[in-house]
Amino acid sequence: MTQNNKTLPIGIFDSGIGGLTVVKEVIRQLPNEDIVYLGDTARVPYGTKSSKTVISYSQSNAQFLTSKGIKLLVIACNTASAVALQSLRWDLDIPVIGVLEPGAREAVSSTRNKIVGVIGTPSTIKSEAYKKAIENIDPDIKVYSTKCPLFVPLAEEGWLDDSISEQIANRYLQSVIREGIDTLILGCTHYPLLKNLIQKVVGNNINLVDSAQQVALEIERTLSESNLENQSNPNSKKEFYLTDISDSFISIAANFLGEEINHIQHIDISKS
Ligand code: DGL
Repeated sequence: MTQNNKTLPIGIFDSGIGGLTVVKEVIRQLPNEDIVYLGDTARVPYGTKSSKTVISYSQSNAQFLTSKGIKLLVIACNTASAVALQSLRWDLDIPVIGVLEPGAREAVSSTRNKIVGVIGTPSTIKSEAYKKAIENIDPDIKVYSTKCPLFVPLAEEGWLDDSISEQIANRYLQSVIREGIDTLILGCTHYPLLKNLIQKVVGNNINLVDSAQQVALEIERTLSESNLENQSNPNSKKEFYLTDISDSFISIAANFLGEEINHIQHIDISKS
C-alpha cells in the first residue's frame, strides 16, 4: 500500500440494512473516510443459511467491494464474521475487520457480575463464536445465548417499535433474562435498529452492547497502524450498492443515518 491508498474508500458489507449501524459509527468517528457499502438484500437473511452458503456469499461480496478499489474491508455482519472472517483474511491483501471480537471485548469490560447474554441469528448462535471469544478473554464469564431469527425481518420491514415486535422480543429474551445477565450483546448488526424496544423488554439494569462503536475504533486503529488514515476529506463520499432495491431500505436508511442516501445503485452480484 502506498500513500495514495489513504484516499481509497473503506468497503463495508452486510446481508441488508444491519451494516448501516456500523456505517453510522464510521461516519461519526471517521468523517474523512469515503465508504462503499454493499447490502446483499436479494439474499438476506444470512442467519438461517448454512456456513458454506454464507462463506460463498461473503466471498462474492468481498470480490465486488475489492473491485471498487477499497483499502480495508469491514464484515458488518455477525453471521458472516463468525464463519467467513478467516477465509476472507486469507484471500485478501487488505486488512479485514469483523464485528464479533470488538463486541466480545466490550461485553467483557462491561459485565460486573460476569454473566453475559448473547442474542444473534441461528447461525451465529450455533457457531458459539461469541462464547468462545469471551471465554478466551475471561474464562470465568458465563455466557447464555439465544437466537432471535424474527428480528432481522422485523428490522428490514421497519417494525422497530411495534407491539408485535415487542411481544416477539418478550418471548425471545425471557430465557437470557432469567439467567441473571447484566450485559446483553446485540450479536447481529440488525438488532441495534431495535435497541429501544430490546432495552424496554430487558429493563434498564441490563447493559446492551452494540459493537458498532468498537468496530469503528478498531477501523481507526488499523488504519492508523497501516498509515492509511484519510486525514483531510471534508466532502467524504458514500456509495451504496444493493443486490435488490426496496423502498423500505431507502426510507429506513435515510431515517437511521439522518441523511438522504443519494448514491444508491442496484448490482447483480452474480455478474459483477
Ligand atoms: N446483520 C447480520 C448479522 O449481523 C445478518 C442478519 C441476517 O442476514 O440474517 O448477523
